[in-house]
Amino acid sequence: MHKVDIDLVEMTLDVMKYAITRITNVTPDLGKPIKQEELKKLAGETITPDGIGGETAFHLFRDVLVKATIPIDHPRHLAFVPASPTRAAVMFDLVTSASSIHGAFWMEGAGGIFCENEAMKWLVSLTGMPKGAHGVFTSGGTAANLSAMVAAREVWRNRTTNGIKRGIVITSSGAHSSIKAMAKVIDADVLLVETEDRLTAEALEAKISSLDEDQKHRLFAVVATGGTTNAGIIDDLEGIAQACKKHSLWFHVDAAYGGAALAADSVRHLFNGIEKADSVTIDPHKWLFSPYDCGAIIYRDMEQAKSAHSQEGSYLDIFYDEGAVGFNPADYQIQLTRRLRGLPLWFSLAMHGTDKYKRAVERGISLALQAGKLIENHPLLELVREPALSCVLFRRKGWTAEDYKMWTYRNHNDNVALVAPTKWKTKGGDYETVARFCFINPATKEEDIRVILETMV
Ligand SMILES: Cc1ncc(COP(=O)(O)O)c(C=O)c1O
Repeated sequence: MHKVDIDLVEMTLDVMKYAITRITNVTPDLGKPIKQEELKKLAGETITPDGIGGETAFHLFRDVLVKATIPIDHPRHLAFVPASPTRAAVMFDLVTSASSIHGAFWMEGAGGIFCENEAMKWLVSLTGMPKGAHGVFTSGGTAANLSAMVAAREVWRNRTTNGIKRGIVITSSGAHSSIKAMAKVIDADVLLVETEDRLTAEALEAKISSLDEDQKHRLFAVVATGGTTNAGIIDDLEGIAQACKKHSLWFHVDAAYGGAALAADSVRHLFNGIEKADSVTIDPHKWLFSPYDCGAIIYRDMEQAKSAHSQEGSYLDIFYDEGAVGFNPADYQIQLTRRLRGLPLWFSLAMHGTDKYKRAVERGISLALQAGKLIENHPLLELVREPALSCVLFRRKGWTAEDYKMWTYRNHNDNVALVAPTKWKTKGGDYETVARFCFINPATKEEDIRVILETMV
């Protein structure tokens, strides 16, 4: 298995040929999920005592299995939060793997960690956070949010005699599901301000005032969102920052999806106040064109994060010795052994420059505005709310939830597009099923939007 021989050479050529073909294919088939039993029938036994051979396994993946996956970078994949890694970033992901670097400690990964830190400095500069703020790359937004909550809780525990109690986090119902899920991991309660619209400082203050004394002592953090997943809404970050300061609460901004738009001059002002955050999540694997998986957590005070996350063990002592010392990503998030997942972003940023990133993010925003106009001019369609960042919520007059679902399946089956419905709260308080676009891929064209809208007749 570890020998260099002709099998290895043949397999390598197959892999490189596949990689080049895939990254130059601008409209790969949309791919469809196939039931497990059917896949098993198609694939047969792949894990056997003698192995089925590289050629057979590779062809099985290339010709059968990958076709049961949906390419996230298809220009008409506008569902959920899609992605669109640059080709440079994808190729450098191969290089990252080939380089076999342990990314937890400077001693083993210095050159690679240096690159990650250079890319991180650009992310931090976008937030406007003060000198000393820095961050690390994580497996995604969920891990970044968890890392921030762990740091926040540690600071609160060290500060108060109430620290042995269950903590409380306040966020809005528009916050991403990972906030509630990660609060469970740290056994904290989440109290929701009931709004999927912009969380304001007033609504936050009202929520805090409604707490009893015990709850007030248990409250340690507020999570605001910098671009909600469903609708691209940015909370009142300035007002929330002030409220957090007043009540001595950790201020976390989950900008996993929207944080890329910090680079876009047209909307940067909407994020004012983010520079006052204690921590910020930004996912390069969403709108900063990195391959999966790559999230990032940025802290105002790295020492606070370190005291929460740093691991101890006699086998780790050498990493903290004079001779090996440097920046250790393991000290600032939940993972020890880690891939250098910021490297593809670094390479692509270094190759293309930050201006191209700005333009590519602006493109998503302008596609959302273009879609908004097309919807407004369509007799059967209407906007549910104005486009926000790169998200557009709209309705097809007269459609039921079932109609939206069938429309999604039809477009997917016909290889036209992947656009999924979502729900939005009506003024009456009920939830209505609506259609949703989320634009990430700069290669999406106005014509693509027209084609999709025409399927809503
Ligand atoms: C605002 C927000 N936060 C967190 C997440 C979770 O990120 P991940 O899926 O990378 O864990 C998402 C994912 O869409 C998100 O939109």
